[in-house]
Amino acid sequence: MRLHLIGGALLALVASCGGGETAEQGTGSSKTMVVGFAQLGAESNWRTAETRSVQDEAQRRGVELKFADAQGQQENQIRALKGFVGMNVGAILLAPKTETGWDNVLADVRKKNIPVVLLDRGVKVADESLYTTLIASDFVEEGRKAATWLVGATGGKCRLVELQGTVGSAPAIDRQKGFLEVLAQHPGMEVILSQTAEFGLAKGKEVMEAFLKAKPKEIQAVYAHNDDMALGAIQALEAAGLKPGVDVLVVSIDGGKPAFEAMAAGKLNCVVECSPLLGPLAFDALERLQRGETLPKRIVVEDRVFTAAEAAAELPNRKY
Ligand code: AHR
Repeated sequence: MRLHLIGGALLALVASCGGGETAEQGTGSSKTMVVGFAQLGAESNWRTAETRSVQDEAQRRGVELKFADAQGQQENQIRALKGFVGMNVGAILLAPKTETGWDNVLADVRKKNIPVVLLDRGVKVADESLYTTLIASDFVEEGRKAATWLVGATGGKCRLVELQGTVGSAPAIDRQKGFLEVLAQHPGMEVILSQTAEFGLAKGKEVMEAFLKAKPKEIQAVYAHNDDMALGAIQALEAAGLKPGVDVLVVSIDGGKPAFEAMAAGKLNCVVECSPLLGPLAFDALERLQRGETLPKRIVVEDRVFTAAEAAAELPNRKY
């Protein structure tokens, strides 16, 4: 049985236990928490790390995780949510591809009183009570941090290109917003081309090649909404005979190992961290619900900024 009250989520998580049956856990006889995770896909190194973090943490805590990879399609994510309702899971973790299009399915989930924790990306819904909490970085702030670094590195004068993330996704919208907010105070900073490369390395390379063709000799910097696109852009710059990090500055967001390696090699100048290691936070949140606590609507993950000068020393500490 599930209750409507937030405190009732405790009962929901325990009582659901795989369709109301008792699942044996280890040698004990306690009921196993069953959680559905609707992941949007595996478009980046970051997302693979997020999936691993959630799976590892579920295993560590003895949670039965029902995992659905939507392979980049929102329809698949919606189908997965409906499937989780059918399986009578105790809670759902959702990493939504885009901000919109969730009202109906989340209303269906709510009818069954299954708590939904949004992981890493937010949604725009008419009724915010359709989800319990959002655990994510502040993407607008990340965009501001990237812009602030670039303004400092260029003395406020630069012709740059932007590689955007997936159209309609919270990180693409917010990282552009924060970036442009800072640029608005620096008239010498000009975005001369901007296009989506869908958070992917191959696409990042392809779009950067097109940018270089459209504006040869004009591009002084690249702002990429994630590491993978920055790494693709670096490949395109090198193929064009340019030195990334020197002839063209590169700044990205995520801060994964491959980006730190590129920074240590002098090809990438700055990364704004965005941690994908959300598994522990996600299950902490679900356990708090189990204890009957009310969660804040937003749990913000703190991020740092790293420059090339710090890359070699930081590299051994990177966990993704
Ligand atoms: O939602 C977080 C973003 O999604 C990451 O920055 C990006 O790499 C990913 O695919």
